[in-house]
Amino acid sequence: MFPELLRWLRSDEARPWLEVLTQAPPDDSQLLSTLARLRRALSPEQAGALVTQARLRRRAERKFPGRASRMFFEATALEQATSMPVAAWTARRYARFDWVADLGCGLGGDSLALAQVGPQVLAVDRRALALALVQANARAWGLSHVIHPIQADVTAPAWEMAAAWADPARRDEAGRRFHPDALQPPLGALLSLQRTRMPHLGVKLMPGLDHAHIPPEAEAEWISLHGELKEAVLWLGDLVQRPGRRATVLPAGASLWRSGARAPVASPGAFLYEPDPAVIRAAAVGDLAQRLGLWQIDETIAYLSGDASLETPFARSWPILEHHPFHLKTLNRRLRAMNAMVIAVKKRGSPIAPEPFRRKLRRTPQGRPVIVVLTRVAGRPWMLICAAGPGGCDGSMAADATPD
Ligand SMILES: C[S@@+](CC[C@H](N)C(=O)[O-])C[C@H]1O[C@@H](n2cnc3c(N)ncnc32)[C@H](O)[C@@H]1O
Repeated sequence: MFPELLRWLRSDEARPWLEVLTQAPPDDSQLLSTLARLRRALSPEQAGALVTQARLRRRAERKFPGRASRMFFEATALEQATSMPVAAWTARRYARFDWVADLGCGLGGDSLALAQVGPQVLAVDRRALALALVQANARAWGLSHVIHPIQADVTAPAWEMAAAWADPARRDEAGRRFHPDALQPPLGALLSLQRTRMPHLGVKLMPGLDHAHIPPEAEAEWISLHGELKEAVLWLGDLVQRPGRRATVLPAGASLWRSGARAPVASPGAFLYEPDPAVIRAAAVGDLAQRLGLWQIDETIAYLSGDASLETPFARSWPILEHHPFHLKTLNRRLRAMNAMVIAVKKRGSPIAPEPFRRKLRRTPQGRPVIVVLTRVAGRPWMLICAAGPGGCDGSMAADATPD
């Protein structure tokens, strides 16, 4: 989509069409007939832009709940945009600044959240379309007076600003970028800006960030939303609350700092605990174990166990019904004896692919719902049969490929 088409989408001519289509965007089966109908009154480009926009708005509801139907999107910019609850969380640290620069603002996911907590926002991007989108979205949120879009290359700024936020692009035409210096803009360029011009900087990075890239004076925060790992943020300057690493889980808004504590190791107890991925990535599993009085069932695996059922935002848990050394025949025999129906197979530290494995398991429709966990205990392949239920697996998650 080009900025001119976006300008037309925001015009009085397009507005009534867009409102109607936003209410009921055509699905794939209705696409051709809707386009044909629109083309009776509009150009093919206009018809296509209306339908695409309405469908993107529907898709964007996940990231911008309650707001997407008034916003403007482009497919790649939407894919790259920060989800509203995560952007709101990171923006909070900027509340005491008068101005903040959003270095690579895209369609404005972070600029909007920053503007909502107080500062004036300089929304910078090198793409004209990004600027047109951030402008349209600032208007849709009633924040035009605090968001100031400018087109520039952020690696060579002609302005100074004490506080800045950057969310470098992790994907380009060549695919996903895994090294911080392959990001756009690269982490190295942002850190050099921080040293010379923008002392108080937050940088959103890939959650798989290697800890070796964390400067010693920085705070690194891994953030998950509804149990899904979203990002790692490097905080520098006055934005650091405490140098070190922490895991933050949203929407609870709870944080766990890594102190380097090690969990004791013992065989499985009455409950299995699966730490939130942010806790695992922040290397704070030992801290969680210490806080809750839990232990690891293997020193190399991020599963914890305990004898009590505990409510915590940092882990999910399931009652362990039985556990045995791994053996397929034994498992099927026990499932039959328990009249159990496996609704999910999870694994950590096992080479077995969960979904094909599930198909080899005995099926008992209407049986007691259980999840089977393939892992290691004291270095040996092990299997646990856990009760599925509230607070645990919802059955839609058939497999779990999170790292050990
Ligand atoms: C991941 S997106 C930002 C998404 C945004 N935080 C949001 O929530 O909508 C990264 C943006 O950085 C921009 N960008 C990359 N390199 C840049 C550079 N050197 N100067 C300015 N913008 C740049 C890209 O055009 C892209 O829009």
